[in-house]
Amino acid sequence: MIVSGRASQSLAAALAADLDEVLVSTKRTRFPDGEVRVDLDPGDGPGSASDTEASIGDNAQQRALLVAATTSADAFVELLQLQDALREAGVSEITTILPYMGYARQDRAFESGQPVSARAMARAIGIGTDRVLLVNPHEESVADFFDIPSRTIDAAPQLAEPLPDLNEPVFFAPDAGAIELAEAVRGAYGAGTTDYFEKTRRSGEEIEISPHETDAEGRDVVLVDDIVATGGTMAETIAILRQRDAARVYGTCVHPVLANGAYTRLVNAGVEAIYGTDTVERPASAVSVAPTIAEALRNPK
Ligand code: R5P
Repeated sequence: MIVSGRASQSLAAALAADLDEVLVSTKRTRFPDGEVRVDLDPGDGPGSASDTEASIGDNAQQRALLVAATTSADAFVELLQLQDALREAGVSEITTILPYMGYARQDRAFESGQPVSARAMARAIGIGTDRVLLVNPHEESVADFFDIPSRTIDAAPQLAEPLPDLNEPVFFAPDAGAIELAEAVRGAYGAGTTDYFEKTRRSGEEIEISPHETDAEGRDVVLVDDIVATGGTMAETIAILRQRDAARVYGTCVHPVLANGAYTRLVNAGVEAIYGTDTVERPASAVSVAPTIAEALRNPK
């Protein structure tokens, strides 16, 4: 059976269809003080699922796949609650799938006194599950923060799927750390070259990008990153590519967080289109990672 967190309902449904698994119904309420609570549908009594919906009552004792992107504090709390409710219902084995793991970018203490937030999240999540599956965590090493078996999945090759026919494409990573993603997309597309920008982060919102030597003039460009959050990184690279007379510029990312007007920012910067996956469910989620996750589940390492 599959249970979905609030931020992964479409992906969980796609995964349930792919794996031919039951999608269990959930009910969300909010306490007057603002606290969230999510219940698994018990399958009988007032407020239960209709006959056509699946309830936990019919599926207890089974293995559960919990699909929950932790895109917000509420989504994170809900994930912990769902793990607890599944255990309470007698589910024997829980696999937690984190399509997008919030706080993963805080994977070290940059100054003394700071928490390693990714580790704190991993510890909390790890208590309530038997294993965890992460889609493109910011760094592979984030998986090591879990005290239980963990596995990562690379959805980057899927970013080639929505791309149109491109002219002499160059696949650019906004920094050296994302070059493997750019190579994965180029490989899946089957043509073009790869390159990267030099990036220095000044603060959470401010970055500085040094132009790279690749001549993008007249070429179609595909920018590839793991996350687009504020859009600052991609907007800067688009501006530089515009100065260098690149033809069309496409933005692709695994996790289209697109916070605080980032989509508009990128459109105004001159992006042709933005394509992301449904690890974060947004209008830019052009590709579903459900087949990649299903494949990984069918072939456990
Ligand atoms: C950073 O290392 C990541 O790979 C992304 O480049 C970054 O998270 C993007 O953030 P933003 O859209 O806020 O510039």
